[in-house]
Amino acid sequence: MAKLKINGKSYFVGNEPDTPLLWVLREDLKLTGTKFGCGGGYCGACTVHVNGEAMRSCRIRVGDVENAIITTIEGLDPASNHPVQEAWLELQVPQCGYCQSGQIMQAAALLAENNDPSDEDIEISMRGNLCRCMTYHRIKNAIKKAGKEIRERSV
Ligand code: FES
Ligand code: FES
Repeated sequence: MAKLKINGKSYFVGNEPDTPLLWVLREDLKLTGTKFGCGGGYCGACTVHVNGEAMRSCRIRVGDVENAIITTIEGLDPASNHPVQEAWLELQVPQCGYCQSGQIMQAAALLAENNDPSDEDIEISMRGNLCRCMTYHRIKNAIKKAGKEIRERSV
């Protein structure tokens, strides 16, 4: 049994403590916006925020995050209009879409730390998030656009 705080709600789940968080999100809580890609921490499709940090939910054990604040793509913004999501839509970033919730969560964590990232900052932060459809150029442009929007909102 574990108590998890996800997207502002508390959940009691009956899984073993070493169950991967990704399994609990998708199979038990039906928060299927977080995707299963490799299951080994290599692709970034399963990225969520744990206490504001982008982490791979396939590599997190539920027993290790009982007191953490967990955010999935469903909880990033109540109206799905986080600046990153808006920029993604405006620049039509997704192709097949499979990797994109992980990309968005990784980008949102980057911009929370640094709302004016350089190309190099973006490449370093995003390099663990793979996209088979090669949307990397649009992802970089969308991150820059979202950063500009965040800076303007904070003036
Ligand atoms: S599914 Fe978690 S990193 Fe690939
Ligand atoms: S949009 Fe298809 S894998 Fe990234």
